[in-house]
Amino acid sequence: MKVAVLGFGTVGVGVYEMLKSADGLEAGPVLVRAGKDDAPFKVTSMEKIAQDPSVDAVAEVMGGVEPAFTYACCALKAGKHFVTSNKALVAAKGPELAKLAAENGVGFLFSAACGGGVPFLHNMALAVQSDEIVSVGGILNGTTNYMLDNMQSSGLSYADALSDAQKLGYAEADPTADVTGLDALRKIMLACAVAFNALPTEGLLNEGIDSFSADDVAYLRSVGLTCRLIASGGKNEDGSVYAYVEPVVFPGSAAECSVLKNFNMARYNGKNSGRIVMIGQGAGRWPTASAVLRDLSDISCGRRVMMKPSCSVVSANNASCCHSYLVRLPAGEKLDLPIESCEARGNACYVRTGNVSVKQMHEKAAELRQAGVQVFFAAIGE
Ligand code: HSE
Repeated sequence: MKVAVLGFGTVGVGVYEMLKSADGLEAGPVLVRAGKDDAPFKVTSMEKIAQDPSVDAVAEVMGGVEPAFTYACCALKAGKHFVTSNKALVAAKGPELAKLAAENGVGFLFSAACGGGVPFLHNMALAVQSDEIVSVGGILNGTTNYMLDNMQSSGLSYADALSDAQKLGYAEADPTADVTGLDALRKIMLACAVAFNALPTEGLLNEGIDSFSADDVAYLRSVGLTCRLIASGGKNEDGSVYAYVEPVVFPGSAAECSVLKNFNMARYNGKNSGRIVMIGQGAGRWPTASAVLRDLSDISCGRRVMMKPSCSVVSANNASCCHSYLVRLPAGEKLDLPIESCEARGNACYVRTGNVSVKQMHEKAAELRQAGVQVFFAAIGE
């Protein structure tokens, strides 16, 4: 199967190199931006790839919704299989692409868009054929895991940890999506689409690590807790879908604390299989390229569907998920939520809340920030 590659950045170079020695796969033309001349067999027009009868599949690793969406439509309409690592594209346009792929009798897989090298969506798409998935989630962003690990274990500053993650090729071109939790949110949207055949696009909540400070690191260390950024998705009792991202603090014995560097820990709970957990590198050239190659091999073995063409677009309902939270506020600031305890540290105060809904906590933090109050919050995990 001859594969055209769209994009020749961190992941694109990895995909191209791996294609050269992959069984049953062959590297085809590489689409690069006009003026970029470091790619082999480079072309600058998607039309050329679509019209090339020797190209069987297109692997898109450019990122961003446009022009990736236009190129995806062009490839699918021309009868080429389409594989992507692009979470923004699939979160925004997945159901349209799934329909287009089905109409044209070709494959559309996006395992690399969630979990990096971890075969999370790949396995879950198989599991849904025989089991009911109840919940999905875990550590789904390698950049923030690398940052949190290094800030907490090596005392690296936020800025240095982010700069290292960028140098190592883990972060997005603009790392805002990583540190604000948006990247992990897109991934949990995709996981929900695969698990529940429903893509939540509204009512989503994401809190990242951009307000996590050196003082928080010191406080957490003193009370034996470790912070991780966790994405959660699942079915509420009324059948609606919840989907959110937030920092969670865990006691040292929790499995999440042993997930280090750029690793992800992705999990799903099947009604019959129970809890399935997968750990592996969630970001970086080779892990992500390996997931793209896995999808291409799957296609050459006849697999076509990861998101069903019947996947609906829904609104998330995060009002009935509840936790206790740890909230850092300036000393003397009031938190209008049920409070269990409050511990003063320097100019700050660490409050533990009673059971509070995810929606209520995120809205309260937004309200305080609107009023100029600096807040960090994290759910208290087990
Ligand atoms: N920026 C992403 C991450 C890349 O750090 O997880 C892999 O999706």
